Amino acid sequence: MKQVLCSLAASASLLITCGPAFAQENAAPATNPAALKEAFDGCFLVGTAMNRWFIMDEVPGVLDFAASQFNAVTAENAMKWGRINPSKGDYHFGIADALVDYAEANDMAVIGHTLVWHSQTPDWVFENWRGQSVDRDTLLERLEQHMEKVAGRYSGRIHGWDVLNEAILDDGSWRDSPWRRILGEDYVATVFEMAHEADPQAELYYNDYNMYLPGKRDAVVAMVKDLQDRGVPIHGIGMQGHFGLDRPSVEDFTAALDAYGALGLKVMITEMDVTVLPWPETLEVGADISAAAENRQELDPYTAGLPDDIAQAQADQYAAFFRELVARRDFVSRVTFWGVSDADNWKNNFPVRGRTDHPMLFDRYLRPKPAFDAVMAEAGPCRAE
Ligand code: G3I
Repeated sequence: MKQVLCSLAASASLLITCGPAFAQENAAPATNPAALKEAFDGCFLVGTAMNRWFIMDEVPGVLDFAASQFNAVTAENAMKWGRINPSKGDYHFGIADALVDYAEANDMAVIGHTLVWHSQTPDWVFENWRGQSVDRDTLLERLEQHMEKVAGRYSGRIHGWDVLNEAILDDGSWRDSPWRRILGEDYVATVFEMAHEADPQAELYYNDYNMYLPGKRDAVVAMVKDLQDRGVPIHGIGMQGHFGLDRPSVEDFTAALDAYGALGLKVMITEMDVTVLPWPETLEVGADISAAAENRQELDPYTAGLPDDIAQAQADQYAAFFRELVARRDFVSRVTFWGVSDADNWKNNFPVRGRTDHPMLFDRYLRPKPAFDAVMAEAGPCRAE
């Protein structure tokens, strides 16, 4: 597995360090840990996100390993507009189809990600043949066709869709996306209604990062209340959960969980990871993928492996979050990790390319880390029910 994950990293341009020191330090074979999905069975689903190499079974063993640990799966990229429909009339469903088949064969809930996002949507969607912005009716028609082609294709097979991703900024103001500019202020209701039409059985979610920030939290609550007042179909709120060793505070995290739970909707952590690396001081903390900084040695301190004290700090952080999630199991319906192992998580390349991060519960060889044990130790109340 070690060799395989390292060569995977190379072929996928993940730029993961697989040097001799790292390999030696991690030389023990992977063991078979107890399963997350069973430990949290009485509380919520536990999911993973998969990229193309895993979904297409190019890394032997990962699909079976993931099915043994998780009971939900999200396509990390394969269902995004730019991947499915990069140019007009050109559709690529192979990877998304394979993911849905895999999930069904292994009794895993499929989470669709994502129908409407300002990012990873090709320019052609918003432009006419002259490269000028299309009018509202044209964009509505394209969106409706996308919903039919994608959400309609998997209708009845998707547990829930991240319908709208990242529409609100950290300060609570609206993101000035082409969707909002062209469709108008009420576009949020429209996209949820269209998604419901295309797949009436799927749960429909609003999904965003930094959802613990009070400004964003209050704006999301106001937006959702407005949708609920008007009878627009929305069933859940996804807090992405790209966290760090010192953020968010438990107070901010629980205040946000409770504010979303009070809306009577399902609340999910949809993209969880806890980075151990320093955040470049020149960038705002978040998951806005346009952020980038140059690599420097002091920004990449754990290329030779994760020191015990940092592994323990990460375990403590994961445990604190899971304790609060388990305590809110009446409305928390899922926790999904944004990847399977440290090797494939996006944080190795964000916001600095080519670092060696260790954000997940399983290391580069799929061995459980202290964070795994710490999370499992919080599952007691789930088993009692
Ligand atoms: O597959 C190509 C590869 O062939 C090529 O050699 C390489 C060169 O850069 O690029 C590879 O594609 C990259 C892909 O990740 C797979 O690693 C894309 O450039 C890169 O843009 C893409 O980033 C993804 C990002 O969304 C943008 O879509 C990340 O994997 C994915 O984890 C991330 O996920 C987002 C969620 O959808 C929304 N919330 C935030 C989260 C993190 O940004």
